[in-house]
Amino acid sequence: MQDVTDLPFMRVIARRGAPDWFVTEYFRVHPDSCLNPYILRSILENETGKPVFAQMIGCDVPSLVRTAKQLADLPVAGIDLNLGCPAPIVCRKNAGGGLLREPAAVDRLLGSLREAIPGRFTVKTRVGYADTAEFPGLLEIFRRHRIDGLTIHGRTVNERYQTPVHPDCVKLAVGSMACPVIANGNIVDTSTGLAFLEQTRAAGLMIGRGAIRNPWIFAQLQAAFDSTPPPEPSHRDLLEYVMELYHELAREARKFLPNSHVQRMKKTLAYISHGLEGSFEHDMRRAITPDDFFRICQTHLDHTAPLPAMPPADSKLFCGFGALIVP
Ligand SMILES: Cc1cc2nc3c(=O)[nH]c(=O)nc-3n(C[C@H](O)[C@H](O)[C@H](O)COP(=O)(O)O)c2cc1C
Repeated sequence: MQDVTDLPFMRVIARRGAPDWFVTEYFRVHPDSCLNPYILRSILENETGKPVFAQMIGCDVPSLVRTAKQLADLPVAGIDLNLGCPAPIVCRKNAGGGLLREPAAVDRLLGSLREAIPGRFTVKTRVGYADTAEFPGLLEIFRRHRIDGLTIHGRTVNERYQTPVHPDCVKLAVGSMACPVIANGNIVDTSTGLAFLEQTRAAGLMIGRGAIRNPWIFAQLQAAFDSTPPPEPSHRDLLEYVMELYHELAREARKFLPNSHVQRMKKTLAYISHGLEGSFEHDMRRAITPDDFFRICQTHLDHTAPLPAMPPADSKLFCGFGALIVP
């Protein structure tokens, strides 16, 4: 995830039970692009013991082919193409999710990339641009190019983050693709993860925002698969996680400016503080200095009460996650 899943974040997550693999923030690719050195570090200095896929976003075929060849020479598990980003600035350029409006362009792009990438080539997609009716046609294209994996954020681009996901589309992909299909979107805890798997029979799950909120989610899911007791983190465990993230990110910052660092942390904290009891979320929005930040965290998190498993049922941030459990 952009501005989130960098090297420090990967380290902090891995200490709490890592996913089977990571995916980098996307490398922006265009005719003048070179590999972003900060994102490169999550490949070259990855010490989590887990493989990492390099993700690219763009629409210029020669530039994407050139970049894929550069990335293929690095210690990556594979190369992933982003066809899901809904940001207007990205879609306007016909990159990310914007490309889904042009299936013929996707077809050409996948053909060229498949030819250029000797190892694993995977795609991250949404289930259409404006309508899920587009999805079967997209699947046909993905199938034709023998991609090695397909991760599906189960919303259309137009749905952004504001609806429940469409497990039926993921299930359709599982039934028609030869490669493993990974289900993504709105997994916030073990029950939503297991429900998404059961409804789709996907080969695996990708977890984004839910892992920022709850970095123990991978270990909790693994425990559910193994029928062993899951980690049950307390508020104090969350405090430790937030402090670790603060200091790891500060250590790696290109230029450390205390108050700017607090603003950067607040973006991540929006997912972490969301729905916790009391005024943590409210107070954190007003933090300006590191002293404010530490005091607010200490005041609200330094106790042993267990963390709630799920965000609030009416959460706008994790919109519609409850639909996974009660389809
Ligand atoms: C801040 C943020 C940054 C993201 N950056 C990326 C990205 O670089 N590449 C990508 O494939 N998806 C990106 N996503 C989308 C997530 O990977 C994921 O598909 C989406 O958030 C739904 O899954 P979730 O409910 O588990 O978060 C981003 C999402 C957020 C909220």
